[in-house]
Amino acid sequence: MNLKDIALSFDKMSNIYDLVSYMMSFGVTIYWRNQLIKHAFKVYNIIKNQIKKKIYILDLCSGTGDIAIKLNQKINNKEDIIIAIDISYGMLKKLIEKYKKYGYNNIIPVIADISKLPLKDNVISLATMSFGARSLFEGEKPFQTYLKEILRTCNYYVNLETSQPSNPVIKFLYYSYLYFIIIILGSLFFSHYNKEYFRTIMKFPGFVEFKNILLDVGFKEVEYNNLMFGMASVHIAKK
Ligand SMILES: C[S@@+](CC[C@H](N)C(=O)[O-])C[C@H]1O[C@@H](n2cnc3c(N)ncnc32)[C@H](O)[C@@H]1O
Repeated sequence: MNLKDIALSFDKMSNIYDLVSYMMSFGVTIYWRNQLIKHAFKVYNIIKNQIKKKIYILDLCSGTGDIAIKLNQKINNKEDIIIAIDISYGMLKKLIEKYKKYGYNNIIPVIADISKLPLKDNVISLATMSFGARSLFEGEKPFQTYLKEILRTCNYYVNLETSQPSNPVIKFLYYSYLYFIIIILGSLFFSHYNKEYFRTIMKFPGFVEFKNILLDVGFKEVEYNNLMFGMASVHIAKK
């Protein structure tokens, strides 16, 4: 899918994105995002023990900003800056509406393509990304191009994405759920629902394969934690 189409598709979905994400997963994605925050916060503390001054955090494919906002609440430090990057103006607009309610001024939304981050090498201490890797995997450039750009700019990268359960019974149940609830009911009840985007859950690499991709692009250490039998996983990669 080309970048313009991705941006347009998320622009159209932006008003219903949070609702769709919550309803189609029965709230499970909230638990998964909290797991990402937990791991990102552990990494944040490691970094802050080494670097006493202000650090820059990057939330990639930030969308409506749940990760940027939750992480900001968790670190509770007005000094550190969170840059929230996304290609969709509509999604970032929702992020701005949300964080204004909290009166934050240390989250900076930026419209940019992950394959060409407007950042110098190594300026970011910690990057997070939730449910963006699948979009990049289906993006107009090879997946590795985006990951190399993250590696160029960031020292740690914590990623949450759907994965492939290794148990065949769980996998069968998971795929059945995806077909009937997400694909069919989603298209019936929500206009602007991007059915294709949800189909990509079945194509995205499993947790071990994704770890190997991260090592291949040049991350030195990669750990992962599976969620709900491997339906999703959090990868923690260090440069
Ligand atoms: C499924 S949403 C995830 C949003 C949010 N992180 C979450 O947890 O719900 C994927 C986001 O990735 C953005 N995106 C896709 N490709 C991108 C690219 N090449 N550069 C920047 N953002 C991109 C889309 O605009 C969309 O907002």
